[in-house]
Amino acid sequence: MKQRLLELLGVEYPIVEGGMAYIGDGLLAAAVSNAGAFGQVGSAGRTLADFEKQIQIAIESTDKPFGVNLPIGEHSDPRERVEMILKYREHLRAVSISAGNPRPFIPVFQEAGLPVMVLISTAMHAQKAEQAGADILIAEGFEAGGHNGPSEVTTFALIPQVASVVNVPVIAAGGVADGRGLAAALALGAAGVQLGTRLVATVESPAHENYKQALVTARAEDTTMIERSIGHVTRVLKSSYVNEVLTFERTQPSPEELYPYVKGEKNGIAALQGDMEHGFAYGGQGVGLIHSIPTTEQVIRTMVEEARQTLQNLPTL
Ligand SMILES: Cc1cc2nc3c(=O)[nH]c(=O)nc-3n(C[C@H](O)[C@H](O)[C@H](O)COP(=O)(O)O)c2cc1C
Repeated sequence: MKQRLLELLGVEYPIVEGGMAYIGDGLLAAAVSNAGAFGQVGSAGRTLADFEKQIQIAIESTDKPFGVNLPIGEHSDPRERVEMILKYREHLRAVSISAGNPRPFIPVFQEAGLPVMVLISTAMHAQKAEQAGADILIAEGFEAGGHNGPSEVTTFALIPQVASVVNVPVIAAGGVADGRGLAAALALGAAGVQLGTRLVATVESPAHENYKQALVTARAEDTTMIERSIGHVTRVLKSSYVNEVLTFERTQPSPEELYPYVKGEKNGIAALQGDMEHGFAYGGQGVGLIHSIPTTEQVIRTMVEEARQTLQNLPTL
């Protein structure tokens, strides 16, 4: 399965940059791909024009394969994004779909020669996505930064359960931030890993310095969930702003009342402008493993070396 994943994505290492709202720009995707992993330009948090521009920047900045992430539920009309992605089919290696029903979109991309990765968070949805034709599944556990699946299944439990019931490569996401996580994911039956939070705190990431420093300082227990009151689960770094949101949520606001506090722009304010008092920033529980702001290349190289070492040093039973 690992070999199949490497072939589908055309990469050296089984490591994927997760789609990241505001953060996943063309330069970061290119840096990840140049390091031998799989970079992805994210659609969320961008206008259509900026999404296209970031794809062009990635094309100019790497000769290595990279892809795009399309969270379909984030866009009022995902079809115009789909058409734009298809325009760049020759330059893209794969598409990942999240936040919505992937079924109508899978054949569209595959007919254009693009393998499709589908983000799921339960074994049942993994089977459905496989039946719908997904080439790769990204199984994301509840530790992950950003929007999580409502079932709240954690990575350690999720990966083997998904790997047991599907016949396509499974990528483990959520809580992986070093080589031990990569080795563990392989042991659980994954073919590779997807990183989010770890890549935010890198030199090439466009995240504001305040956000990067907050990730370096935070421990695993410094993340929490917002939007639960309206049936969503979104993992963010704790902050005074997030406290305000949670206090408001205790008054059981309607989704329309809560929206101004949790809309994407509020994420951009913290993530790009660094104003952590007036916006929220995504962060997963693996944040406790982040102690510095290395280059993307260092993250990938160290992770691969550490995973190899971990697998070699495992005690026998
Ligand atoms: C800053 C940030 C933004 C994210 N935005 C998206 C997104 O737009 N689309 C998506 O499918 N996943 C998104 N995610 C989830 C990641 O792609 C990835 O699956 C997750 O971060 C993995 O867990 P980790 O944060 O523990 O590494 C985001 C995560 C972070 C940290």
